[in-house]
Amino acid sequence: MAARSIPTVRLPSGAPMPVYGLGTWRMGESGRTRANEVQALRHGIARGVTLIDTAEMYGDGEAETIVADAVGGDRDQIFIVSKVLPNNASRRGTAAACERSLKRLKTDRIDLYLLHWRGSHPLADTVAAFEDLRAAGKILHWGVSNFDHDDMQELARAPHGKHCQTNQVLYNLTRRGIEFDLLPWCRTHKMPVMAYSPIEQGRMLGHKALADVARRHEATPAQVALAWLLRQGVIVIPKATALTHVDENLGALDLTLTEADVAALDRAFPPPTSPQPLDML
Ligand SMILES: NC(=O)c1ccc[n+]([C@@H]2O[C@H](COP(=O)([O-])OP(=O)(O)OC[C@H]3O[C@@H](n4cnc5c(N)ncnc54)[C@H](OP(=O)(O)O)[C@@H]3O)[C@@H](O)[C@H]2O)c1
Repeated sequence: MAARSIPTVRLPSGAPMPVYGLGTWRMGESGRTRANEVQALRHGIARGVTLIDTAEMYGDGEAETIVADAVGGDRDQIFIVSKVLPNNASRRGTAAACERSLKRLKTDRIDLYLLHWRGSHPLADTVAAFEDLRAAGKILHWGVSNFDHDDMQELARAPHGKHCQTNQVLYNLTRRGIEFDLLPWCRTHKMPVMAYSPIEQGRMLGHKALADVARRHEATPAQVALAWLLRQGVIVIPKATALTHVDENLGALDLTLTEADVAALDRAFPPPTSPQPLDML
């Protein structure tokens, strides 16, 4: 399979960001699987993937070292997302955590640095730290993760809060709550949403409705689930260590769902009709 060109969306800053990337949660947790995890990321990069999502939390920092090994000399072609843990997200703690991530990632900048979820440090302190890091060129953009609708409104009111570039949240056909208020809010503010656990860690793939749509397109349930999210205009970051999964998931970029497919999926996985608290994994 040759390298493909992956479409991009515009961040509020105007910079492009790929709509498809590779996740890394559960990578770096065991030395025995490390080589395979590096290989899976390299395999994706060889096929044209230019976005990798990681976090200081994953494998206690080891996932970031796996990303460094996989990216190697391709650094300038790859958009790296990493995240600071809420416990570290004080003004000084964020700066220190970023330095540690840069060292593990063997790079001089992180393309997009996120607050992993809200903790006890004041948002204003985390944002101030992000702004300092951006001014120093150590991060190019910053954003948040697991922020609900009211969190986003509060952030937008904080000093420099409008510089937030994304919100990374749990979103897939079985978790559609954000469509009621959070997703419309982000769309209004032209802020792309990153959908994590886009195939619900595999748990949704046995659903009959996905199989029915997949059969019509000679596709697979995972490809249908990912193609549906891409159609919603969000960024997907499926994680796969099996090379066959890496290839299969990329096939979602070639799948165009019809109105009939979308209607069938809406019947099987109804959209929300009232506000729902944001789900988290
Ligand atoms: N911000 C946050 O709080 C947060 C939370 C969760 C996740 N994330 C990010 O989002 C990424 C993706 O989410 P996730 O890892 O939770 O779940 P996911 O991407 O929905 O699913 C990953 C799981 O599905 C399997 N899989 C992948 N492709 C498959 C396919 N085509 N057919 C069958 N199984 C398949 C993988 O197996 P193999 O590995 O064996 O291939 C892995 O076990 C994470 O890795 C992480 O980077 C962020």
